[in-house]
Amino acid sequence: MEIKTSVFIKSSITAKDCPSKELSEFAFIGRSNVGKSSLINMLTQNKKLAKISGTPGKTLLINHFLINNSWFLVDLPGYGYAKTSKKEKKKIENIIVDYFTNRPSITLTFVLIDIRLNPQKIDIEFMNWLNENNILFKIIFTKTDKLNKSEKETKADNYISKIINTIKLSPKFIVSSSKNKSGRKEILNKIQSLN
Ligand code: GTP
Ligand code: MG
Repeated sequence: MEIKTSVFIKSSITAKDCPSKELSEFAFIGRSNVGKSSLINMLTQNKKLAKISGTPGKTLLINHFLINNSWFLVDLPGYGYAKTSKKEKKKIENIIVDYFTNRPSITLTFVLIDIRLNPQKIDIEFMNWLNENNILFKIIFTKTDKLNKSEKETKADNYISKIINTIKLSPKFIVSSSKNKSGRKEILNKIQSLN
């Protein structure tokens, strides 16, 4: 699939405020700074589409991007940034929970995981919550350009084998890098197969 057009539609604070158009949408979620916004820009080949920052906590709202005039990519705020105040963390959690529970047009959710890290409690809890709410998701490992080839292969497999007994997930994951564009075709093929 080719992405011909990508347009920012709006930022929303609740599912109710999200675009009213009934199009299928693909959501990107994960810890703050994991690379959600960068991945959306890599997929659309549009560096200025989603706002990126080296400092965690850049995306604070639900952002809808209309692709090829027919479906949405959705950039979400990240969870788990340690330096955020308790009140701000709760606000972000509420936005995420409200979006996933009240937005029926979500076709597939991509949960992004930094390939360099061992399983983190907050990601496990979030994926369990998705399971409990029957929300289908697929893992994308990010920042794989930071590892060498052999590390890349073993890290992802080890991660999955550590969590597969506790979390119901699609055993097929995608490894990606926004820097060298790896994983782009695979992600777009997955979207196309469901669109
Ligand atoms: P929040 O909006 O704060 O939740 O963060 P985010 O998940 O949207 O992350 P963002 O895309 O803003 O990227 C965070 C930092 O990681 C930036 O400095 C990016 O340049 C960097 N980054 C993202 N993806 C990659 C990648 O694939 N490789 C490398 N080397 N750096 C990346
Ligand atoms: Mg972001």
